Amino acid sequence: MSEPLRLGIAGLGTVGTGVVKIVRQKAKLLAARSGRPVVITAVSARTRDKDRGVNLGDYAWEDDPVKLATRDDVDVFIELMGGSDGPAKAATEAALAAGKDVVTANKAMLAHHGQALAEAAEEAGRVIRFEAAVAGGIPVIKALTEGLSGNDITRVMGVMNGTCNYILTRMQNADLSYEEAFAEADGLGYLEADPELDVGGIDAGHKLSLLSSIAFGTQVNFDGVELEGIGSVTIEDIHQAADMGFKIKLLGVAQMTGRGLEQRMSPCLVPDDHPLGQLEGGTNMVVIEGDQVEQVVLRGPGAGEGPTASAVMGDVMDIARGIRVSTFGVPAPALEAARPAKGALPAPYYLRMTLADKPGALAKVATVLGEAGISIDRMRQYGHEDTSAPVLIVTHRTSRAALDEALGAMAQLDVLESQPVALRIERV
Ligand code: HSE
Repeated sequence: MSEPLRLGIAGLGTVGTGVVKIVRQKAKLLAARSGRPVVITAVSARTRDKDRGVNLGDYAWEDDPVKLATRDDVDVFIELMGGSDGPAKAATEAALAAGKDVVTANKAMLAHHGQALAEAAEEAGRVIRFEAAVAGGIPVIKALTEGLSGNDITRVMGVMNGTCNYILTRMQNADLSYEEAFAEADGLGYLEADPELDVGGIDAGHKLSLLSSIAFGTQVNFDGVELEGIGSVTIEDIHQAADMGFKIKLLGVAQMTGRGLEQRMSPCLVPDDHPLGQLEGGTNMVVIEGDQVEQVVLRGPGAGEGPTASAVMGDVMDIARGIRVSTFGVPAPALEAARPAKGALPAPYYLRMTLADKPGALAKVATVLGEAGISIDRMRQYGHEDTSAPVLIVTHRTSRAALDEALGAMAQLDVLESQPVALRIERV
C-alpha cells in the first residue's frame, strides 16, 4: 500500500469533529477505497480543553492554524474555521505556499477570494476542494465539474439554505408568522451566529456564486448576485401563493444570458408539484440544466455533522486517489471576468395588494399594468368584511423594469392600502 495521506484539521466544531470520527471509524474502508491509509496528524481549534466526544490524543495540537497548515507532516490542510478573512484565509494561503492541498467548507472565503486562492493554488501546483461549502452533503461540485463536464450548462438553480427553507416550510405547515418560525429555528440552533447570513440570503448567495463560476467558466462574482432575503415574506403570501398552486422558496438562479451572467437569490414562487415546491424543512436541492443531460435534480441534507463531514471526506478521498481538478473546473487564468446582466430575464410575477373597496379601484390598477405593457394572466379578489379588498394578480411574462414602473405608478393611485408585494414566478 502507498504512503499515508496525512491530514491537518483546523476547526473542531460540528464538522471538524465529524471528520475526525469518519477518519477514526472508517480507516479500513477509506484505505481500501483510496489505496492508501488516510490519517490525521495534527489538529487546531480556538479552545483546547473542551470535550468534543472524540479522542484527539493521537494528534499533535497547534494553537495557531497557520502553524498547523505548514507542518511537514501535513499533506492536506482541512480548513473548517469559517469566516471570509482572518485566520481561515491566512492559514489557507500559508498551506498553499507550503505546498499543501486544501479542503475547505468555507463558502464566504471562496465567494470573496476564490479567484486569488485558485490562482495561488495552481501556481503552487496544489488543489483547493470545497464540496462541503455548497449544499452540505450533496455532491454538487463533483456533479458539475466532473459528471456533467460534457455539457454546456444552461442554468443552475436551487434551494441552498436549509434554515430559510425550514422557516418557510414551518410558516406554511404550522401557520406561523415569519417571526414565530424564525424564533423556532433559532431555538433549534439552526441560525448562523449572524442570522442575516441565513435570512438575508447571503450564505445562499455565496454558494450560488461558486456554482456559477464552475457552470459558466467565469470568475467568482458574489457582488454580482442580486440578493433579497426572506424577511418580508408573510404568512398571507404563503397562503395565497398556495391557493394559486405555488410554494414560496428562497431560490437561487444562475444563467448565462445574451446580456451577461444573471445571478439571483430571492424569494420566488415555484409550482407546488415540482420537486423544488415539495422540498420541506432544512433539506437542500440543486437543479442543474445542461444542453445534453436536460435537467438533473440533486436533493439532500444541506448542513449538519454527518452530511458536511461526508462532503469533506469526498474531497479528501479524491486527493488520496490522485484526482486533481482545477478549483473552478478550468485553470484559474482561463476563467473569464463575469459580466453581470442588468436585470433578470422576463418572468411572470405574483402581485398581492390590498385595495380600497370602491368603484373603479381594480380598473385603475389594471390600467396602470396595461400602460406598463404588462398583461394579466389570472386575478383573484377575496371575500372580505371591511372596506379593504385583498387582490391577487398573476401577470404574464414581464421585465422587472416594467413591473417597477407599474408599481411606481400604482403608488400614486388613491386606491392602494399598502405597498403591493411582488414575487417572481420562476420557470422550473
Ligand atoms: N446556515 C446554512 C443553512 C448551513 O442553513 O443552510 C451552512 O451553510
